[in-house]
Amino acid sequence: MGYKEIYARYRQHILEGRLKPGDRVPAIRTLASELQVARKTVEAAYEILIGEGYFVSQGAKGTCVNPQLLLATASEKAAVSAPPASENSPRESKGELRLGIPALDEFPHKKWLLISGKAARTLRPEEMILPPVMGYQPLREAIASYLSISRGLNCQPEQIFITSGYRANLRLILAVLAQPSDKVLFEDPGYFFGQKLLKRIAPNLHYVPVDRQGMDVDYLLRYHPDARFSIVTPTHHSPLAVTLSLPRKHQLLEWAHQNDSWIIEDDYDGEFHYTRKVIPAMKSLDVHDRVIYTGTFSKTMMPAMRVGYLVMPKETIGRFNELGEILETGMSLLPQKILAQFLSEGHFYRHIKKMRILYQQRRRMMLDALQQCFPEMFDFELTDGGMHIVAFLRRGTQDKALAEIWQRHQLRVLPLSGWYMQTQKRYGLVIGYTNIRSPEQAFALLQRTARETREAFK
Ligand SMILES: Cc1ncc(COP(=O)(O)O)c(C=O)c1O
Repeated sequence: MGYKEIYARYRQHILEGRLKPGDRVPAIRTLASELQVARKTVEAAYEILIGEGYFVSQGAKGTCVNPQLLLATASEKAAVSAPPASENSPRESKGELRLGIPALDEFPHKKWLLISGKAARTLRPEEMILPPVMGYQPLREAIASYLSISRGLNCQPEQIFITSGYRANLRLILAVLAQPSDKVLFEDPGYFFGQKLLKRIAPNLHYVPVDRQGMDVDYLLRYHPDARFSIVTPTHHSPLAVTLSLPRKHQLLEWAHQNDSWIIEDDYDGEFHYTRKVIPAMKSLDVHDRVIYTGTFSKTMMPAMRVGYLVMPKETIGRFNELGEILETGMSLLPQKILAQFLSEGHFYRHIKKMRILYQQRRRMMLDALQQCFPEMFDFELTDGGMHIVAFLRRGTQDKALAEIWQRHQLRVLPLSGWYMQTQKRYGLVIGYTNIRSPEQAFALLQRTARETREAFK
């Protein structure tokens, strides 16, 4: 045992209340012989504990836990500690079949490590001060070029604002461009984090139903033509994964143009389209510059990176600049530097191409396993892309009960009905498949729940 362990043990005993202020601790020699370590080892640990104020030396009387130590009582601790994350919370990281997580087994660790080392070594003194609020310029350039090549979107690096992802994008856009009374439209069903955030920050929030062609734009034109913002997931709707039809895209763009309204395009997983060639972002059709495009590296790299971005329409750059300087601090520079290099050296493109093929295979594995394990239970309306499957219940409305059974078996699927606000609900499970490694694994995971599922849904 080393001095660090002795130190850590005592510290833990004190913090957890097993040793109280004033309690005596063994003499150095006694403890050393008890633990069979050198006296110097115990001495080093005690020195740190004294230095940090946990212990006090009382000369000939020995050493004790500092009587003046102010420790939180158990009830105080309980009051300040965060509530335990619910097992079914989207933030819970354990479990399988989680939505929207890229294939973690395929993360390009080697390349990432190489580039990270170089990025850290070459950090210049001026880069160690404050990062630029709108983002690291080479990353803005790399994103603009990526968007033009891969998402058909023509924009300048000066239009890119780097953020920490989806919610930061929405907050920033509304803070810069919206008045509190502005009407904001959101899809129904729609992304749960979006719903939760918008309920807090957009007092005049309304919902627009979604069908097999995406957001129902006729509904929008009939009931909410006066809206200022419409937030859409046109490439793969969240969660139904349908694509907004081309006529509807044009209708929506025309509405925004005629009304001076804004469309917020959430292109969170547009890269993963399988049956046709990748479809360009809606922003590529936006001749009047009414679309604020938002993207993220959560689906292509990893969610923990927390790097996203938005493309500012040209006429808004000044406003974003001005308010951005007040509201934002700029994102940590090092990850931006690494990403910039990863993109500009072409690794990002290769990685996505590889993942597109892989996800298609993994989706097949999951579908086959679902059909094999539960042949009569689900219907599938297979869409052209996305990173999850929606398995619609053939009968009944009990998707919450079903999801609970699966969650008890560590399968982090979500009930579809929970994503609806006002529209007539549909029922089923939303299932992530991107981390399934083999048909056998897919089958084995579902088998965990098979008996209970069949019993509950006879
Ligand atoms: C609909 C939708 N939009 C955006 C995102 C990206 O979120 P973030 O960039 O905060 O990771 C996600 C991620 O799950 C999503 O499902």
